[in-house]
Amino acid sequence: MSIESVAEVVYKKRQRGRLSRYWSTMGFIFQIVRDIDPKLRIMIDTFTLLGLVYTGRMAIGLMIAAVRGFRVHLWSRVWTLDLKRKYGEWAVITGATDGIGLEYARALAGRGFSLILVGRNESKLAVVKQELLARTQVVTIVADLNSDDPELYDRIAGEIDGLNRDIGILVNNAGVMYDSPNRFMDQPVDKVWQHIRVNIAAVLMMTRTVLPGMIRRRRGLVINMSSIAAYKPLPLMGVYSASKVFVEWFSKTLEIEYKSYNIDVQTLTPSYIATKMTEFSDLLQKPSIMFPSAETFAANAIATIGRTSHTTGYWCHSLQHFLTNWFVPDWVYTMSSWHFLKSIDNSKTK
Ligand SMILES: NC(=O)c1ccc[n+]([C@@H]2O[C@H](COP(=O)([O-])OP(=O)(O)OC[C@H]3O[C@@H](n4cnc5c(N)ncnc54)[C@H](OP(=O)(O)O)[C@@H]3O)[C@@H](O)[C@H]2O)c1
Repeated sequence: MSIESVAEVVYKKRQRGRLSRYWSTMGFIFQIVRDIDPKLRIMIDTFTLLGLVYTGRMAIGLMIAAVRGFRVHLWSRVWTLDLKRKYGEWAVITGATDGIGLEYARALAGRGFSLILVGRNESKLAVVKQELLARTQVVTIVADLNSDDPELYDRIAGEIDGLNRDIGILVNNAGVMYDSPNRFMDQPVDKVWQHIRVNIAAVLMMTRTVLPGMIRRRRGLVINMSSIAAYKPLPLMGVYSASKVFVEWFSKTLEIEYKSYNIDVQTLTPSYIATKMTEFSDLLQKPSIMFPSAETFAANAIATIGRTSHTTGYWCHSLQHFLTNWFVPDWVYTMSSWHFLKSIDNSKTK
């Protein structure tokens, strides 16, 4: 059938005012195809079937996501697990002097864990130790993870003594971010190296310090702090975003490699949390449902341990992730991140 004839069919259809009879644009298009050639019905039936399969898949996916969300974020708060019994006596936390790391230390002390706290600031470590000693035993290790000293991790491994001490949990939490969102070449070069050493190298090397002991004892948990910045490229946070993709992929592969040794690996991908890391923005500094305090976040995230190996750690962040994943195209997400981060870029005013 020629293009002119197709146009004629469409024209006649409009003329007869039959458009309103079709309940959807698809129905209208299908009817046109039928009118052009009834033999094309097979094609329409195939499309209808594909549509049904797609809708069914969406419905099942939504149901699974809802059940999973309930189990990970609500049920886990009601039915808590005995983490110490499951994993072991000690928890090692990097970056335990502030923000999320500090709140993990407080919460795990509350769960009965003995703590090894790693931090770069000796006096901040002493204050945290003093606070937590009332509740549990605490060992502190002063270590600047931004160092390129080749012996750094041998020293840390010696102090942790993971083969002889029952290390149950390692929280690879220490991390750095830009002081303000801005372009790659506007970042000082030492900030770039800091991302590589603290966000990437420290995660790998700290894992190597505890894993041999966990393998020998056939139990343990490694928690790796990635970020929502790993979901999609974040312009104006490029190095940070890429460093968190590294953490996420490393973490997911580690999970599979050591499953047979009964070692769990949890990857956390939270959105913004009101800590000193986000102090470049007044909006992100005010704790709210969207941007929780480190304390709220840690309480939620710790409850998800043993329930899932990959989570944002916080119910509202999981909801945000779900909605953007299902309904927001990648390019819309990336461009809105670009505009949002540009709007809070205060590097020129510093
Ligand atoms: N805040 C967020 O919106 C957010 C969102 C997603 C993921 N995360 C991730 O969560 C983790 C913790 O972030 P946070 O918000 O709690 O940040 P924070 O408040 O800035 O705390 C970071 C911790 O890491 C320590 N640290 C930084 N550089 C270090 C170094 N060179 N050596 C040893 N320790 C070092 C800090 O020590 P000092 O106390 O000495 O500074 C502090 O204890 C990071 O991996 C971050 O990427 C954060």
